[in-house]
Amino acid sequence: MQLPKVANVTDVGCRDGFQMEKEFIPTEEKINIVNRLSKLGFKRIQITSFVNPKAVPQMKDAAEVVSKINREPGVTYSALTPNLKGANNAIDANVDELDVFMSVSESHNKANVRMQVSDSVNAISDIIALAKEHNKPVWVNLATSFGCPFEGEVSSKNVLNLADKFVSLGASGVVLADTTGMANPVQVYELVSECMKNVSADKICLHFHNTRNMGMANILAGLQAGVNNFEAALGGLGGCPFAPGASGNVSTEDVVHMLEEMGIDTGIDINGLLETARYLEKIIGRPLPGQVMKAGQRCDLHPMPGS
Ligand code: COA
Ligand code: ZN
Repeated sequence: MQLPKVANVTDVGCRDGFQMEKEFIPTEEKINIVNRLSKLGFKRIQITSFVNPKAVPQMKDAAEVVSKINREPGVTYSALTPNLKGANNAIDANVDELDVFMSVSESHNKANVRMQVSDSVNAISDIIALAKEHNKPVWVNLATSFGCPFEGEVSSKNVLNLADKFVSLGASGVVLADTTGMANPVQVYELVSECMKNVSADKICLHFHNTRNMGMANILAGLQAGVNNFEAALGGLGGCPFAPGASGNVSTEDVVHMLEEMGIDTGIDINGLLETARYLEKIIGRPLPGQVMKAGQRCDLHPMPGS
């Protein structure tokens, strides 16, 4: 099977995972998780979001998290934001990269950020210009790229047009996000292949939720199409609070384990990652969806019965 030799996995658990948690996670625990992840070989970690704290109270400590983490050299620390106010706050907090977001579908964009798609396009265009002045890279997250919980099918043409537009405006890349786990592997292969006609593979990142158990198969389909940038959340936490039925991302440690088992180098310390996922489970206080953290790695050996 022809697959990339290396892959870049970004952990987004401290944002996508934590934003869904009803109970406030103490700021020092958020910092602790980022600091642990920072030592494991990630090149990029999404650590928080600069959004309206009334909309997502869990993220009200964004600036404090950014200012208090220990930054490891070689790691890009990014934060999510939907509008200029958030972008300015993120720049003031000195994040390394801005991850802006909008939905391809009107209704989810309205539910999530209370804007029309055209207003989001304008806001993101302004943020790309602002970020250029501050020398900050911008990745644009296109939520509901594979389907919308309110509208069903989402036009691939709209996804591709937005991807082209933002890359031509100077975005570092686009994240095609499957907000509520509606993507299937054939759809992923086809959309990514189309997108790669205008946008190079290094400018495409894939973000899957495992809501319908298709997440890992979707990652393989992305690899087969030639993309090797993926987002995932530690322990398989995650979900959009403004999308009915949203549930966890593919779990970072399961993705890293699968990639490494397939001979694809992630540069990430799987043992440390599993330890961190188990630590996160204690903080969250309920079993997390990640599977390798329970089953162990493929070649972890068990004692023979009776020995
Ligand atoms: N960060 C902090 N505060 C913000 C903000 C941001 N990025 N954007 C707006 N605000 C504040 C405004 O200052 C204003 O404050 P006030 O009530 O004290 O005057 C208030 O929010 C309302 O501002 P407005 O421009 O009318 O925004 P809104 O209420 O329509 O909210 C969003 C728009 C996008 C900011 C808001 O819907 C939001 O943060 N959504 C979160 C979406 C999210 O995180 N989804 C999960 C990720 S997929
Ligand atoms: Zn997500």
